[in-house]
Amino acid sequence: MCGIVGYAGGEDAVPILLDGLYKLEYRGYDSAGVAVCRDGHLRLAKTKGYVRELDRIVDGGRLLPGAVGLGHTRWATHGRPTDSNAHPHISHGGKIAVVHNGIIENYAKLREYLVGKGFEFGSETDTEVAVNLIQHYYNKHGEILRAVASAARRMEGSYALGILCEDCPDMLIATRRESPLVLGVGDGGNFLASDVAALIKYTRDVYTLEDGEIAVLSESGVTVYNGDLEMITKTPERVDWDISAAEKGGFEHFMIKEIMEQPDAVAKTVSPRVADGRVTLDELGIPDEYVMGVTKIYIVGCGTASYVGVAAKYNFEKYAKIPAESVVASEFRYSSPMIDEHTLVICISQSGATADTIAAMREAKRLGAKVLSIVNVVGSVIARESDWALYTWAGPEICVASTKAYSTQLVLTYLLTLYFAEKRGAISAGEYESVMREISLLPEKMASVVKDRETYQYLASIYFNNEDIFFIGRNIDYALSLEGALKLNEISYIHSEAYAAGELKHGPIALVTEGTLVVAVATYGKLIGKTVSNAVETRSRGARVLSVTTQSGADIVGGVSDRMITVPDTHDMLLPSLGVLPLQLFAYYMALMRGCPIDKPRNLAKSVTVE
Ligand code: AGP
Repeated sequence: MCGIVGYAGGEDAVPILLDGLYKLEYRGYDSAGVAVCRDGHLRLAKTKGYVRELDRIVDGGRLLPGAVGLGHTRWATHGRPTDSNAHPHISHGGKIAVVHNGIIENYAKLREYLVGKGFEFGSETDTEVAVNLIQHYYNKHGEILRAVASAARRMEGSYALGILCEDCPDMLIATRRESPLVLGVGDGGNFLASDVAALIKYTRDVYTLEDGEIAVLSESGVTVYNGDLEMITKTPERVDWDISAAEKGGFEHFMIKEIMEQPDAVAKTVSPRVADGRVTLDELGIPDEYVMGVTKIYIVGCGTASYVGVAAKYNFEKYAKIPAESVVASEFRYSSPMIDEHTLVICISQSGATADTIAAMREAKRLGAKVLSIVNVVGSVIARESDWALYTWAGPEICVASTKAYSTQLVLTYLLTLYFAEKRGAISAGEYESVMREISLLPEKMASVVKDRETYQYLASIYFNNEDIFFIGRNIDYALSLEGALKLNEISYIHSEAYAAGELKHGPIALVTEGTLVVAVATYGKLIGKTVSNAVETRSRGARVLSVTTQSGADIVGGVSDRMITVPDTHDMLLPSLGVLPLQLFAYYMALMRGCPIDKPRNLAKSVTVE
C-alpha cells in the first residue's frame, strides 16, 4: 500500500526520494509525489500514475532543489487516484506539508470541526484533515512539535506521517500509530521510510518508530520523543538484508526471480531449526506443559497466508492429532471464536503488518489465547506483539504475488506440526524420521521442479486465452487449488476459482462447458483416484483437464488428462511444497503471455495495512 520516504541531509533530496519511491513501487500505488523545503518555502510536485512520470515532471529532481524533503506513493482509499488526491498535502495557508499512510477513521468529524474553524479543503482525502489539524494546533501553540503531538492525540485509526514545516526548514518530523515507519541513520543525512527497502542503499542502521513516538530528523541527527515530548533513547538495529534481494538480478520480473529463489529460501528457513534429524524450536521457548495442553489451533491469515493455513490445518489434525481450523483474519476478528488459555492461534503473515491479521491477533490475545506468529519481516507489529515469533528467512519479497513467502511459511508449519506431534507422542518414530528425511531433500526436489520453465511457457501458450479456469483438489490438494486460483487471479486477471473436488457436482459443474479449463490438483496419494473421478466428470461435459500430480500418481492421472505435470514424490505432509511450484509457474507464464504487469498487478498492494 502507500509508501513514505523522507530525507534530511547535505544533498539534494529529490533524487534520493525518487530512488526510494522506485524501491517502494512493489507495495502497490496509483499516484506519487514529492515535497521539499528550501529557503523557507515548501514546493511540491505530484501526479496520478507512476513514479517515472513524477521523475519526468521534476526532471530527475533538477526542477525541485532542496536538501530536506518527503516523497510518497499513494494507494487510493479516500478519493480516487487523481493529481489533487495525491500526496503530499499542504495545509490551508500553505505552511505545512504532510505525507500519510493508513486511514484516519474519525476524519469526517475532524473535517467538519476544521471547516467550522475556517479551513478550506482541496481534496477528498483523510490526509488533508491530518495536515490541517496540525496547522490548527500550530496556529494555537506556535510550536510544531506540540502541534504534531496535539493533532496525534485527536486522530483515530492508523497513521504514519511525514511532516515538513516552512518555519523549520531543516527539520523533517515523523510520527505514527499502527502504520510502520523506520528511521535510517546515515553519513551526512538521515532518512525516513515506510520500509527499509527505500533506504537500505544509503544506510543499514535503522530505528523502528513505535506507536505514539515523534521523531525529528535533520542533517546532523535523529531525535525521538514520546507523546509527551520527552526525549527518549533508542538503539539502532543493523539490517542485514542483501541489497541484491531488492534488485531483479537479470530476471525479467521479481516474481520469477522469487520463484527460483524458493529452494534456497526453504533451506535457509529449515536448517537452523533442525539438529541431528530432529526439529528444534528452542528459539521459541514454548513450555512443554503448554504444548501438551493445547486443545485447539486456529490458523489465521489473509490471502496466500491463509491458504498456507488450510494446508497446515490438515497436517496438524493428521499428524499432531490436534483439532485445527484455518480462518481468514478478516472473518476471525468479527466472529466469536471459542477460545481459552489452551487455544493456540497461529498468525501467518509475510509483512507482519496486515491490518486484518493484526486485529485478529489482538482479538485472540484479548480472549486469552496464546499467539504464535510466522512472519517474514523482522520486528514487524505481528512479530513483536505475538507470544512467540518464528521467522521465515525468505529475504524481502518484492512481487505483490507471494511465492517464496508461501513456501517458507509452509515449511515452518511442517516443523511446528512435527514439534507438537513428537512432544505429544502423536507420531511414530518411523513416520517422524521419514518426514525429516524428506524435509532434508525438499530444496533439491523443489529445484528440480522450478528449473523446467519451458513446460510452463508451452502450457501458457496453449491456455492463455481462457477466461475462466477451475482448480479442483481434495484435502491438501484443495489448499493448493486455492493458492493456484489466487495466483492466476492476481497476476493474469483470469477469472479462476478453486473448489473442493467433491463439491463440484453440488453446483459449480453447471459452469463447465465445451473447452472449459479444469486444473486437477491430485498429488495426495490416498485421494488421487477420487479427484481423478471428479476431473473425468468435467471432461465428459467438454472440459479440458490439466493435471498436477506426483511421479507415482502419473499412471492413474495420465489417461484422463489432456495434459499432465508431475512433481517428484515426497512424504504426504510435504506435498504442497512441490505441488505449488507448477501452479506459480503456470500463473506467471499465463500472465506473461497476456502482457500483464506481473510484479505490480492492478488494484493490489503488497502490504494491506487497511481493513
Ligand atoms: C499473495 O499473493 C497476495 N498478494 C496476498 O494474498 C497476501 O498473501 C495477503 O495480503 C497477506 O499478506 P501478508 O502475508 O503480508 O499478511
